[in-house]
Amino acid sequence: MRRFYQRPAFYILLFALILTALLFSEMSPYRGEKLTAGPAENPHATGPRHEFPRAFVLASQNPREAQSVQLGAEIFYQTAKFAPTYDGNGLSCTSCHFQGGTQEGMLGLVGVALKYPEFDPRSGHPVTLQERLQSCFLRSLNGKPPQEGNPILQNLADYVTYLSTGVSKEQELKWRDLDWMPAAEKIPIEKLDPVEGKRLFAQKCSACHGLTGHGDGWATALWGENSYNDGSGLARVYTLAGFLFRAMPLSSPNSLNLEQAQQIAAYLDAQPRPDFAGKAQDYVGVQVPVDAVYYPQLYPKNPLTEKLQATPIPQ
Ligand code: HEC
Ligand code: HEC
Repeated sequence: MRRFYQRPAFYILLFALILTALLFSEMSPYRGEKLTAGPAENPHATGPRHEFPRAFVLASQNPREAQSVQLGAEIFYQTAKFAPTYDGNGLSCTSCHFQGGTQEGMLGLVGVALKYPEFDPRSGHPVTLQERLQSCFLRSLNGKPPQEGNPILQNLADYVTYLSTGVSKEQELKWRDLDWMPAAEKIPIEKLDPVEGKRLFAQKCSACHGLTGHGDGWATALWGENSYNDGSGLARVYTLAGFLFRAMPLSSPNSLNLEQAQQIAAYLDAQPRPDFAGKAQDYVGVQVPVDAVYYPQLYPKNPLTEKLQATPIPQ
């Protein structure tokens, strides 16, 4: 009687097993990486685990910190999923801060954590990084902010701080200058033409964002209840135009000229969006920026909305 290891079938089976093991290790997303944190289940998760870019799986000296950074990155990429109580419109941080905040002209966040606490002209007092993040939830995500000490805030702060690895506190961050558009290139608010913006929008944006802009395309909503609210950074015309000039259309960034970017921004900011209840407490004692078109302190009615509505629809 032959023993089992003397049968050819045993070797075939053994070979198949080794092959399978090799195949799986080849496919493993963490192959060859030193893992100190993750792939952990995010404790904020409400659904099944998602695919996650492995660049953020860190090999840190401090596993607790590494884990917090990883969780923060996950929240940054899929905010509605991992911070559902606080995300009011379904956008994620990365919807605006592209590729996890690592892209220079696309609201890049590299180095910014080092600048906090910092004076905030909008609120009129210095804010910490966590307070700044709360404001993102309140305005850009049209939600409610996690309270101080909430792990979601801590994870996000650790992640945003991690993005500054290797940057010195003194380093000038060119990409931080939101209002970078040369004054001579700025079209005065009253000269902007949201109707021209509408035409350009149909041509250059609607394929992804949908014609109604409410989220009827595959990409994010650009106005209406699923968009950023009227107290957020992108609700300012020149801030939005600067962003669009560098980041959109996603298929060919930098293809708009400065005038087109401003006309399209004027169209987007002529649209209804969620009301930020705290607008009256913004810019107290300072000049409201001229492009904050939703602020009744400056404009009793949004001048761009009025212009868009006053123009008859071309047949
Ligand atoms: C709708 C677009 C949008 C979304 C979504 C968004 N942000 Fe922002 N964020 C901005 C804009 C625009 C600015 C800068 C202008 C401003 O708000 O004054 C900004 C500013 C910031 C800053 C300060 C940058 C600096 O230079 O000091 C941080 C940090 C930040 N966001 C983090 C986040 C995080 C974390 C989330 C998700 C919880 C988020 N943002 C969601 C658009 C967005
Ligand atoms: C090829 C598809 C595509 C085109 C074309 C495109 N976008 Fe986007 N846009 C996206 C995607 C996808 C995102 C979210 C980015 C992400 O999640 O990484 C986005 C994000 C945005 C955002 C920030 C997030 C938000 O919803 O507020 C704005 C504003 C925006 N696009 C405006 C425009 C405008 C205006 C145009 C036309 C000039 C345009 N986009 C053209 C795909 C596109």
